[in-house]
Order: sequence, then C-alpha cells, then structure tokens
Amino acid sequence: MAMKEEAARLPPALAWVNGLVVPAEEAKIPLEDRSVVFGEAAYEVLLARGKRVYEFERHMVRFERSLQGVGIDPAAILPLVNSALAALGAHAVEGVTALVYLHATGGVAPREHLPARDPKPALYVTWRTVPPGRVAAIPGDGVSLASMQDFRWQRATYKTTQLLGSVQAKRTARAAGATEALFVDADGHVLEASSQNVFMVRDGQLFTPPLSLNLLPGVTRALILEHWPVQRAARGSEAAAGASSRPVIEQSFSIQALRQADEVFLSSTTRAVLAVTQLDGAPVGSGQVGPVSREIAAFMNEHLLAALGPERV
Ligand SMILES: Cc1ncc(COP(=O)(O)O)c(C=O)c1O
Repeated sequence: MAMKEEAARLPPALAWVNGLVVPAEEAKIPLEDRSVVFGEAAYEVLLARGKRVYEFERHMVRFERSLQGVGIDPAAILPLVNSALAALGAHAVEGVTALVYLHATGGVAPREHLPARDPKPALYVTWRTVPPGRVAAIPGDGVSLASMQDFRWQRATYKTTQLLGSVQAKRTARAAGATEALFVDADGHVLEASSQNVFMVRDGQLFTPPLSLNLLPGVTRALILEHWPVQRAARGSEAAAGASSRPVIEQSFSIQALRQADEVFLSSTTRAVLAVTQLDGAPVGSGQVGPVSREIAAFMNEHLLAALGPERV
C-alpha cells in the first residue's frame, strides 16, 4: 500500500496539553514558552503498543537526567508523565503501535534569559500511531551514512530539543545521497548518527563508542549491551562462533577504523536495528547486511514482541 494511503488509514494523533486530550493538530504551545524562544526543553520518544510502553523505566531514568541537565525540576514533570500516559493510553487500541513524544519545558515567562521568577515547568505529550511494521527490527537492504564533523552543541548526552544541528546534518546527508548523518568529533572519533547510536563489527568483535564522548546514552544501545552477551551465548550461533569472549566493547574508534569494519549498524527506539551497508559512498564490508547485524536485529525483534505483544496488521 502506498505510504500516503497507509497514513490516511491511521487514527489521528492525539496530544495531552494542560491535562486535556485534544487532536494533536489543535495542540498549541504559548509563544513565550521557554522551549520556543530558548530551546529550553528535554524530550523522550517512547514506543507503545496498545497501552503498553516499551522500556518505560529506562526512558524515565534518562528523562530525569536530561531534565536535570537542562535545569528543569524533574519533580514538577515526572508525575505529569503518568497522568498524560493514563489519559492518552485510554484511547489506545490493542496491538496498534504508536510513538509517544514527551516534551518538557521550562514553562512560560517574559522573554528574558533568566526571568525574575522561575516559571512553572510544563509537559506536552503527543501519541501518534505508526503503520504496522514501521519499527520492525528487520535490517532490510541496509542504509547509507555520510560522515561529518559534529557541529552540535557539546551536551548531546542530554536528550534536549537543541536539534537544529541534527536536522542540518540529516539534510546534508540526504543531499549527498545518504540516508543518515554520522557525527565524528574533532579528533576523528566516531560518535553517533543524527538520531541513532552506532555499532561496528570487526574481526568478530562488536564495538560501540563510549558514553564519555559527546553522544546520547541510547536505550536501545543499553539493551544491546546488556542482553546481547547472554543471547549470543544462548544462541551459540554461527555469527557468534568466531567472536571473542568480550561481547560488546565500549571503546572509541576512528572513522578510518569504521571504514575497515566488517559490519556497521545503528540502534534506536524508533527503528530498532538498522544495518549500514554504505559509508561515504563506499560499501561497508561485503556491502550486504551482515550476520551479526541480522542476529541482533532478530533478537531485538523478539525482545520487543515479548514486552509489547504482537502487532495488529
Ligand atoms: C542523537 C541520538 N542518538 C541515539 C539515539 C537512540 O536512542 P534510543 O535508543 O534511546 O532511541 C537517539 C534517539 O532519538 C538520538 O536522537
């Protein structure tokens, strides 16, 4: 089915604003909200199926950390998250997958960098259904990356709305014929893609850059680090057979090293595991989706299914 027709069949997105559920297209943020004028906001993107939310606790731990990083009191926001999810979840349909966007802001105040009195922090939430299979952890044909210098702000460890750099990077990548932008720091260390973490397989060993660099602690990244070692042992698979005993190494590596990788893949909540088959126009490894990417994608699919149940098609 054409994507337009498919989108037309989806229920309209809902929003939660000031305690009320409204159609997302009618939801409004005041002009003097600090997220509008200063980008003072932290956010999360959750995956839901029916009322169930995937890895809710991990997302909330990161949300709290981002709120603190931005300077918004988590105690003013976190209780609102539960109210919003309960109100929006009441409209959810069993087996239907949605992306839930949480946007916490410093609140509304006259436009001054530091207003005389702290405004009340606010939370806005949208609940948007996505077509079946959209988040499937199937690597497909693989995606392509265009590498570029990291020109985002230096606190990418917090999930904030300072995303203009990411938007521009993705635009540059698309103009170069690539799917995603890959950020590299001034010393040539690989960081992450514009909205995914990155992993590389070399000589049977799986690597991902450490969180001490300017990158986001991805929830999917953490799930792979935690579960893949156990899974790999349990599967005793061919892909794992040649691997060493250290399943995933958090270690910085250069863009040159990435060019020599046997496999590269990306991880995120919204797309699970995406294999990368091209980097700056050259094939990665064989240029095909590799066995380790395939296995990890399959494992993440099972994990998602176990947590959320099957998707209604
Ligand atoms: C810059 C960046 N890195 C990594 C990720 C992946 O994080 P997660 O797995 O928690 O979705 C995201 C997700 O939006 C992101 O924006």
